[in-house]
Amino acid sequence: MSPAPTPLLDRRLVIVTGKGGTGKTSVAAALGLAAARSGRRVLVAEVGRDEHVPRLLAPGSAPVGYAGRELAPGLTVLRIDPFEALGEYLGLQLGVRPVVDLVLRNRAFRQLMEASPGWRELITLGKVWHLEQMQLPDGSPRFDLILVDAPATGHGLTFLDVPRVVGAAVRAGPLRKHAGLVEAMIEDRERTLLLPVALAEELPARETAELALRVRRDVGIAVDRVVVNAVAGAPFPPGLDDLDRLLAKLPEATALEGLPSAKTLASCAAHLRSRFELNRYWAAEIGRMTELPIVELPHLARGIRGPLDLERLVPALVGAPRANAA
Ligand SMILES: Nc1ncnc2c1ncn2[C@@H]1O[C@H](COP(=O)(O)OP(=O)(O)O)[C@@H](O)[C@H]1O
Ligand SMILES: [Mg+2]
Repeated sequence: MSPAPTPLLDRRLVIVTGKGGTGKTSVAAALGLAAARSGRRVLVAEVGRDEHVPRLLAPGSAPVGYAGRELAPGLTVLRIDPFEALGEYLGLQLGVRPVVDLVLRNRAFRQLMEASPGWRELITLGKVWHLEQMQLPDGSPRFDLILVDAPATGHGLTFLDVPRVVGAAVRAGPLRKHAGLVEAMIEDRERTLLLPVALAEELPARETAELALRVRRDVGIAVDRVVVNAVAGAPFPPGLDDLDRLLAKLPEATALEGLPSAKTLASCAAHLRSRFELNRYWAAEIGRMTELPIVELPHLARGIRGPLDLERLVPALVGAPRANAA
């Protein structure tokens, strides 16, 4: 028996990863909400140019930007734009921020950077490291928990491979030290966790299995569960599990008070059942293929639009993951 996983909210850094559209942003925001409510000082860091997290946590609020803002007591949100992070880093290293800003605004420079692999991820993680190091005047950490809503690049693995790759390539100098610090933070298995989010469908399931394998083989980061998001609920009321089959048995000529024919209704119901069963199948497969416990989140019919929807994800997210049957 492996030991019970550390509760998610007791970690220091949780990197939420997964393909676009799987629910990373919703999961990061829901965890932020739960962590702040539990009295922790929490930071949700959204990586990229757009702001989705503030819209979910505090609909209608002004953008939080790179400086970030506290949207609710204990709940700070910021957006890490890699170019801004690069400016900050170079400004700190060189001590000449105005010159750095000029360089960063230069179009040719930006084009060169857009085309260069790796720097974005390293600089972003460097910023996360910096945030993790921040302290209050009394010496306690500025943030108890940092949730990173990672960009949807491939597996999100490029994001984590970078410090190691850079560390190996650059043997001396400030970048080496920087990469080493970032790597040490990521590979701190007590405090840092990679949290993959997947949908219960074939393609995301296979990709998540591959991610789990690569993380185990190539990256030192801890992964102790997979979030399976938007899992369809049972389609029929309790006790009516085979509603579609009951409908299919009705004589074809049965009149149903202005409703479509029993046959049509039966095929609609059969469709609902098969979607449900397929979802169940792939949720279980994700557990089996990754050999990790899974956390299932319900599919909400109206999507995730604000704090009330996020609340509905919280109980399962902060609870213990379900060990897979194997
Ligand atoms: N559990 C859920 N039930 C219903 N809709 C969801 C659920 N989780 C996410 N969504 C919807 O799916 C879309 C993608 O979610 P989002 O959290 O932005 O994913 P990502 O950040 O991975 O791209 C959004 O429109 C969101 O409202
Ligand atoms: Mg997102």
